[in-house]
Amino acid sequence: MPPHPAVAGAAAQLNNKPTPTFSPSDVTVLFVLGGPGAGKGTQCARLVSEYGFTHLSAGDLLRAEQERPGSEFGELIKDCIKNGEIVPMEVTVKLLENAMKATIQDKPTAPKKFLIDGFPRKMDQALKFEEVVCPARLVLFYDCPEDEMERRLLERGKTSGRADDNAESIRKRFRTFIETSMPVVDHYEKEGRVVKIDATAPPDAVFEATKAKLGKILGDKL
Ligand code: C5P
Ligand code: MG
Repeated sequence: MPPHPAVAGAAAQLNNKPTPTFSPSDVTVLFVLGGPGAGKGTQCARLVSEYGFTHLSAGDLLRAEQERPGSEFGELIKDCIKNGEIVPMEVTVKLLENAMKATIQDKPTAPKKFLIDGFPRKMDQALKFEEVVCPARLVLFYDCPEDEMERRLLERGKTSGRADDNAESIRKRFRTFIETSMPVVDHYEKEGRVVKIDATAPPDAVFEATKAKLGKILGDKL
């Protein structure tokens, strides 16, 4: 499929890269997935304070880009977010790559460990990111029933100011998650790269489960 016309420039840049920007022997990337409201951001914040990861939320980066004066992608991002649709991957992959580069440049001695939260949400993002930016070490998948996620999002919507924490957008986000994002989890599951965590319990308990499972797999890389 040809790229969305608004992202042709970014697409061309990504297509001309022979090797990933970062090597997995130098940079550790963990993808953090789960439905909207599963608690990805909450768990990432804890992993940052306990283990010194850098947390990059794809949704936060997209919202910041949407607000950036002069962004050519502002309107496109706004429409996608409101409708719970996936922003063309060229935009998101580029934002993540730029954020990783900036982090490494600003803090050259800090551990190069990244939690990439809410990404990849579609197969094309997964393949492109690993091809041109950095292969991921594993995928943390926070599994939560829809009714619990909906309850959390509606609660968050009272104060979040987010354009998509309302009943109608939430319904669309759930559909996108099932139809478009779960195939990404299934893909990584087949490769044996998924660490699945039950995210129904309160944050403390979910974090204990996260530490236990990650510690077993990553050892001193954690
Ligand atoms: O992860 P978060 O809930 O903050 O994402 C908000 C919205 O940002 C998504 O519903 C989607 O429209 C967009 N998004 C995207 N691609 C991603 C992450 C988020 O298009 N990888
Ligand atoms: Mg989030």
